[in-house]
Amino acid sequence: MSRYAYRAALLHALDDPCVAGPDAVTHYDDGLLVVEDGHVAAFGAYAEIAATLPAGARVTELPGRLITPGFVDAHIHYPQTDVVAAWGSQLLDWLNNHTYPAEQAFADRAHADETAAFFLAELLRNGTTSALIFGTVHKTSVDALFDAALARNMRLIAGKVLMDRRAPAALTDTVETGRADTEALIRAWRGKGRLGYAVTPRFAVTSSDAQLAMAGEVAAAHPDVLIHTHMAENREEVARVGELFPGAGDYLDVYARHGLVGPRSVFAHCVHSSDDALRRMATAGASAAFCPSSNLLLGSGLFSLKRACTCGVTVGLGTDIGAGASFSLLHMMGEAYKVGQLGGDALDPLHAFYLATLAGARALKIDGHVGNLIPGKEADFLVLDLAATPLLARRTATAATIAEKLFVLSVLGDDRVVERTYLAGELAHSRDGAAPVVNALVAGWDGYAATPPTAP
Ligand code: GUN
Ligand code: ZN
Repeated sequence: MSRYAYRAALLHALDDPCVAGPDAVTHYDDGLLVVEDGHVAAFGAYAEIAATLPAGARVTELPGRLITPGFVDAHIHYPQTDVVAAWGSQLLDWLNNHTYPAEQAFADRAHADETAAFFLAELLRNGTTSALIFGTVHKTSVDALFDAALARNMRLIAGKVLMDRRAPAALTDTVETGRADTEALIRAWRGKGRLGYAVTPRFAVTSSDAQLAMAGEVAAAHPDVLIHTHMAENREEVARVGELFPGAGDYLDVYARHGLVGPRSVFAHCVHSSDDALRRMATAGASAAFCPSSNLLLGSGLFSLKRACTCGVTVGLGTDIGAGASFSLLHMMGEAYKVGQLGGDALDPLHAFYLATLAGARALKIDGHVGNLIPGKEADFLVLDLAATPLLARRTATAATIAEKLFVLSVLGDDRVVERTYLAGELAHSRDGAAPVVNALVAGWDGYAATPPTAP
């Protein structure tokens, strides 16, 4: 049995603080996290838990550090790693001019493998341990990503894009090839490691009614898969969907008619969704991915988190790489705050933290495994350095509460704050390399021994 104990400040969300109140986010100034065989064994006040440790147990002391659950990115495209920071266009032009050309390169498995490895390393260096991910139309794009994720033991969900019209020929499939490839991927990857599949029609613009119907059929046949698509991101897109589906009540109805709206659905953006559509999503149990950086960069509009919450929709946070400008969920928390300010609502830092962790896990239906660090969950966690830069050190030192500190991290922080990322209890990323970076007094970073260590 492997056992490790870490002493630091601890923070995790047990529930939505907007619904359950501020106690939904639990913080220990002096806490102890105990990990056994990749799962959380204990999480709480150091004084209480340390007393229960066996004699000789060694604790890794992490002064000035904050341990949190790994972040959950509720919407991201791995093949768009190379289009981050493209200047000048809004959604439909951006797709045509930047995104579709980049996605065509994923016909080449070697390119997919190389990009997947870079992409996963970037997730981990930013503290993202789970994500819901778009591949490209190419089946092998998902094979490449899943191969790389399996080797790293990540809890990820991904899917092959379905597009059978209004896209370059090199990026389109058909109803039948889309079905066959999707079914083959589900069969190949189901039950492997911590991976999950999402049926992934890109958006209503690029799928025919027949293809959306097929997506609904495949999702219905596999109750363990998610449904992942875009909706109501951009005004021109919404108008185009109205023209393409004149019989539908609204954008959500296009999906609902094909059985694509239910508890396993995650809709990226929903910026221009009406209250009525948001309420119908909530009734169906569907979730929204709020992608503030993407919405600002593409000029898509201001998502109202308050409106979505009032309508009862589960909302996660997405980077939406490559429309979004950063892999960092800390940065997304800051961007979400700015979007809220422009809409007259200041996002509470504890709520933002919930969005980046447990809410994302809830949207992705993986909250039984990850999202917080209650005993029994998988030990996907982060060691955050509140003094990662001179300004952060100076500013967090004067922040009185954990909420203030979190807000400083969300405004000033990024991958530099993530000192270490653990997956199922194992070190998966170390900002400063493999050597122990703190507390040279204990023997090794992961210094917990069930029996007293023998003298050297
Ligand atoms: N809508 C359809 N495809 C995409 C995409 O790749 N990115 C974003 N942001 N929106 C989309
Ligand atoms: Zn997207």
